[in-house]
Amino acid sequence: MSPDGRRSDRVALAIGADMWTICGVTPDLQELFSFLRFPSVSTDSRHADDVRACAGWLVEKLSAMGLAAELHETPKHPVVIARNEHAKGRRTVLIYGHYDVQPVDPIELWTSPPFEPEIRDGRIWARGATDNKGQMFAHVLGVEKTLKETEGLPVNLIFLFEGEEEIGSPSLSSFLLHHCDELRCDVVAISDTGMVAPGVPTLGYGLRGIACCEAILRGPKQDLHSGLFGGAVANPAAAIARLVSSLHALDGRVAIDGFYDAVRPLEDWERHMWSHVPGVADADFLKVTGSPGLFGEPGYTSAERTWARPTAEVNGIGGGYQGEGSKTVLPSQAFVKLSFRLVPDQDPKDIMDKVVNHLEWHCPPGVEIEVVTGHDGKPYITDPNSAFGQAAQTALRNAFDAEPVLIREGGSIPIVQTFRDILGADTLLLGLALSDAQVHSPNENFPVENFEAGIRLNQSLLLELAK
Ligand code: BES
Ligand code: ZN
Repeated sequence: MSPDGRRSDRVALAIGADMWTICGVTPDLQELFSFLRFPSVSTDSRHADDVRACAGWLVEKLSAMGLAAELHETPKHPVVIARNEHAKGRRTVLIYGHYDVQPVDPIELWTSPPFEPEIRDGRIWARGATDNKGQMFAHVLGVEKTLKETEGLPVNLIFLFEGEEEIGSPSLSSFLLHHCDELRCDVVAISDTGMVAPGVPTLGYGLRGIACCEAILRGPKQDLHSGLFGGAVANPAAAIARLVSSLHALDGRVAIDGFYDAVRPLEDWERHMWSHVPGVADADFLKVTGSPGLFGEPGYTSAERTWARPTAEVNGIGGGYQGEGSKTVLPSQAFVKLSFRLVPDQDPKDIMDKVVNHLEWHCPPGVEIEVVTGHDGKPYITDPNSAFGQAAQTALRNAFDAEPVLIREGGSIPIVQTFRDILGADTLLLGLALSDAQVHSPNENFPVENFEAGIRLNQSLLLELAK
């Protein structure tokens, strides 16, 4: 030991790193764990300080890597921007991710606490492990490795990380408008989508759009005795059930007038290509979901229904007594929360007009209806075989040593179409999320091998995009 004690520190650090590696928790994973420990739940105002602290931690990490990193305030949660020194004549690549996460409830169904990451069965278990901290941090570490191993990056890089994706990115469009000169880029890359099966590299070339609303039905001024008033006064809970059932035909098609008008039909080459994609057969949907049966629009497979067809979903419904046993009550109010997944060329505003009309028209008698519209986002589609698309396919092939599959996505990342509208750039969706990652659900997880592949993917991607 040296008199100033520094050597012993270094020895301790070295042993520490080895121990981590022995237990399977490498320094890269330790750092991801630090990121995952922030309960950055964007929808819950009680977590606003945690969201901010998480953004601050990112700025420190990116600055320590030698990038120029800044935290930008927005009306809600901060945006983090980081860049290397940009040089003329090089491609500019914007890598987007989100550091906010979904709420954790029902918390009692988690095997280990959601913000105390741990590794079991080769997977990282924590809220945000896949969606999106694990996937976005793989890009951060990929850039860090390239910076360490080579002179610098092969491209002009912009990292853009937001803290509001899970609540519909309310601040990001105007942020893009205000900073469009600094954010100008040739292409956007995002890892926040799915991978069809372990070891099968997946390039997404489409996302569904979304439009959300809530309908509230109001009846009597307070809950009533159902014996004294039932039968004479309209029941809002029964009315909401009728209203919800009016959204679909019995065969599963959406029954809103004009809902399918703008839908772009599936191309034959897509249907043919998707029929060979592993991991997305109807049997796989049954296995992953644990549902006793599948149901959806006639004439389409489950993959087609989720990737390329629009839907109407009930996200929550309520009203009346929810406690133990029975209570003979006629509730004064009932509500339903709805979201509509949209495909090219449906327009969220046009669809929401049609939805509101439908709900008002089909509202049963004796109750009053209020429809509160929520956030929305446009669908997205691009050419997977464009020059950048081919570069992405090469990077996926290199990172996974397997042939990539090309899919569309059922989920939504509304900012992707906004990137095209404001920055004029297309997006490469390099998904690392497995179908059993349990995103938005209890026991979210991310395979360590996907995290490591994501790091390699980033390194290869920047090289390919530079060519
Ligand atoms: N990462 C997801 C979207 C996703 C997941 C796409 C898996 C494809 C495969 C994203 O974080 C998300 O959950 N988006 C929301 C958007 C909404 C809140 C506007 C969604 O799809 O519900
Ligand atoms: Zn999400």
